[in-house]
Amino acid sequence: MSTERAPQHSLQEQEFRDTLARFATGITIITARWRDDAFVGFTANSFNSVSLDPPLVTWSLARRSRSLAAFEAVERYAVNVLAHDQIELARRFSRPHADRFAGVSFRTGHAAAPLIDGCVAWLECRHHALHPAGDHMLFIGHVETCTHREIEPLVWHAGRFHLCQPHPHESED
Ligand SMILES: Cc1cc2nc3c(=O)[nH]c(=O)nc-3n(C[C@H](O)[C@H](O)[C@H](O)COP(=O)(O)O)c2cc1C
Repeated sequence: MSTERAPQHSLQEQEFRDTLARFATGITIITARWRDDAFVGFTANSFNSVSLDPPLVTWSLARRSRSLAAFEAVERYAVNVLAHDQIELARRFSRPHADRFAGVSFRTGHAAAPLIDGCVAWLECRHHALHPAGDHMLFIGHVETCTHREIEPLVWHAGRFHLCQPHPHESED
């Protein structure tokens, strides 16, 4: 009988990724004003709610990401929740691009960060806490302003974009 013990937990990386991908999420673009005349932004589905009182949200950014230094340095940023017809924006802000904001219609608000036109919801936040967490940096934001519209969101599931449809057994009261 071998004296070697099998590892108690042998998490397979691909199975871990595929399992996490079964958790359906919305899609956001997180933006900030970085220095006087430059903006940063990237596509994120790690956004989630944390606390109602105080109002806190979370998201995470890969530590190898080019915009990490900017998001660590800024005081405030915005979370733009994408609508069903904003797939091209989701793609653009997840890939290298000379200027991700070129031709994108937005305004800036209280946080001086881009609030992209046509979104489902917008939140403006200031940093509450940052925690290194493995290969990502976990951001917790204190929400200072938020607003939304009653339009269909863009959904991310199993590595693909989806449209959101009500379940047929869900009654509309
Ligand atoms: C649907 C979707 C969701 C994503 N969510 C995240 C995320 O939550 N955190 C992250 O670090 N990268 C995420 N990415 C990848 C980043 O958008 C991508 O690496 C981007 O290039 C990062 O920008 P930067 O390198 O300019 O900082 C996601 C990509 C897609 C397509």
